[in-house]
Amino acid sequence: MSLRLALVGCGGVARGSHLPGWEKVEDLEFVAMCDKDRARADEFARKYDCPAYYDVATMLAEAKPDLVDVCTRDPDHDTPTIQCLEAGVPAMVEKPMYAAAGQYNVAEADVGHALAMYRAARDNNTPLFMNYNYRFSPYAQRLKEMIEAGELGQPAYMHCVTHLACWSHTIDLIRFFNGDVVELAARVSGPEEARTRSASLRFANGSVGTLVGTTQRGWQHDLLRIEYAGTKGYTVMRDIAGGLEYYPGEQRERTLWLRSHDAPRNGFQITFDGSTAAFAAFVGQGKASAAATGLDGLREMEIDAGIFVAAAEDKWLNLPERFPDNYE
Ligand SMILES: NC(=O)c1ccc[n+]([C@@H]2O[C@H](COP(=O)([O-])OP(=O)(O)OC[C@H]3O[C@@H](n4cnc5c(N)ncnc54)[C@H](O)[C@@H]3O)[C@@H](O)[C@H]2O)c1
Repeated sequence: MSLRLALVGCGGVARGSHLPGWEKVEDLEFVAMCDKDRARADEFARKYDCPAYYDVATMLAEAKPDLVDVCTRDPDHDTPTIQCLEAGVPAMVEKPMYAAAGQYNVAEADVGHALAMYRAARDNNTPLFMNYNYRFSPYAQRLKEMIEAGELGQPAYMHCVTHLACWSHTIDLIRFFNGDVVELAARVSGPEEARTRSASLRFANGSVGTLVGTTQRGWQHDLLRIEYAGTKGYTVMRDIAGGLEYYPGEQRERTLWLRSHDAPRNGFQITFDGSTAAFAAFVGQGKASAAATGLDGLREMEIDAGIFVAAAEDKWLNLPERFPDNYE
């Protein structure tokens, strides 16, 4: 039996990135295209030869999807996601989990919305996935394998810089590679709408890190760089498709993994293909994967919002103490 997919939010990322991913999943049937903008829903429904819906409740009741891909904007993530989860339908939602003022300005109050989404999944025993598609970059996967195989030794430090366009993805990758952040201190500068921010991090595994987010990086070059160091050597991941460098502690030579014709952003669609395939495989076949969950989304929000809190309050911020409801 094929999986019945519904999509909510017929906008840019759905058209350009999610649907090309869903088109590649075998045994998948499009059963609904939903948008409160009727013209958008109608256009997508015509293209995918399925019914259009203009509200999520009606869509869930009539189309009866097995899984829903929520591609609404940052301040519109929570309501449709919670509707799906309360109806017992697994959902995947775009990042960041919730941001009233958009992804460059995740506020402390936004964390409560993310918590409500996480709880809707937990209390209804229904899977919630985050579309942290950068996890599916071939180089992110390679680095994760090296860390898990112990090739880099014990975690030592991370040193990361990113364009704000990739901000929540980079925070998610930091956690993907090195686990939870328990404490951070931060400073911000620049314009209110896109503040450059710099944070110092302490991880649960005892290692430390730095993280800078800014709009002051040209689109032609790496939007993000993540340096992960262990006791046996360090690595540099350049954007999602700019390659992975490995500098072993005991040798002069470094290793560079770089596929032919790669450029920093060339692999963008591969990452969405990985994310949609992982969600489908989990719902259809119960296959565990590297995909981010609602809990990962919630933890990303704590760091994201916590950086502004730590800067404003001029102190080291302990995340489990600041967000105790998230740890019950
Ligand atoms: N993962 C990535 O790399 C990546 C890349 C680009 C964008 N994004 C994220 O994708 C999300 C969507 O961005 P976009 O540019 O496609 O937005 P968009 O504005 O083009 O599309 C969003 C659509 O959702 C619809 N909508 C809003 N609330 C709704 C509701 N309750 N029910 C039905 N439809 C509803 C709107 O009418 C709109 O058509 C954002 O959260 C953005 O951060 C992620």
